[in-house]
Amino acid sequence: MNMNMNRYKAVLLGEAGVGKSSIVHRYVNDNFYELQESTIGAAFFKKTHRIDNENSIILEIWDTAGQERYHGLAPMYYRGAHLILVVFDVTNTNSFARAQKYINELRENLRTNNVVIAFLGNKIDMEKGREVSKLIAEGFAKQNNLLYYEISAKTGYNIEEMFNKLCNHVYLNCNENNINITNRVNILNQNIDLKNDSCC
Ligand code: GTP
Ligand code: MG
Repeated sequence: MNMNMNRYKAVLLGEAGVGKSSIVHRYVNDNFYELQESTIGAAFFKKTHRIDNENSIILEIWDTAGQERYHGLAPMYYRGAHLILVVFDVTNTNSFARAQKYINELRENLRTNNVVIAFLGNKIDMEKGREVSKLIAEGFAKQNNLLYYEISAKTGYNIEEMFNKLCNHVYLNCNENNINITNRVNILNQNIDLKNDSCC
């Protein structure tokens, strides 16, 4: 079967402890660690997502470290990204404020609109401890033209569905706007056409 595979860069941003690594582990390996270690620098993951019978994409995911001392590194990861996931913890108002700051920073630093930005409220399994209402978070997302999802890395709620929607969105967005894709791999011919790492 002739299967085209394009690579897209995704990055997760957000305060330390909001669950960025847990979200990626749930999506890529379908597991969850109560004692997930804080990320140092950044971690890299890959996952293939099927678009249709002829097209799949490889999502190359950068899971950044949320600790403030790593903040200066963030632009290095989000530059050239096709998909940016800004995460907060619904049980932590500070993390919501931090996520809003990330959105403002992205608006100032990204020179293109050709990137899909999603705003994620994680840990919704802890409904009793909720400090950020869905209404408030959704309102902020709407005002800023962001896609908003409520998820739980712990239970897996909405993780797969969200990534499926976002992958399709990124694929359509990049194709409609004719955006350069990092690499194009044709499985049938095993041709690997490495372009410059330019995109968006
Ligand atoms: P840094 O790497 O320091 O930036 O943190 P992070 O955003 O990657 O957070 P991490 O995934 O390490 O999760 C922090 C803590 O929250 C861990 O103890 C996780 O087990 C817990 N956690 C993550 N997601 C969820 C969730 O959906 N629900 C609950 N209840 N706990 C979660
Ligand atoms: Mg982490």
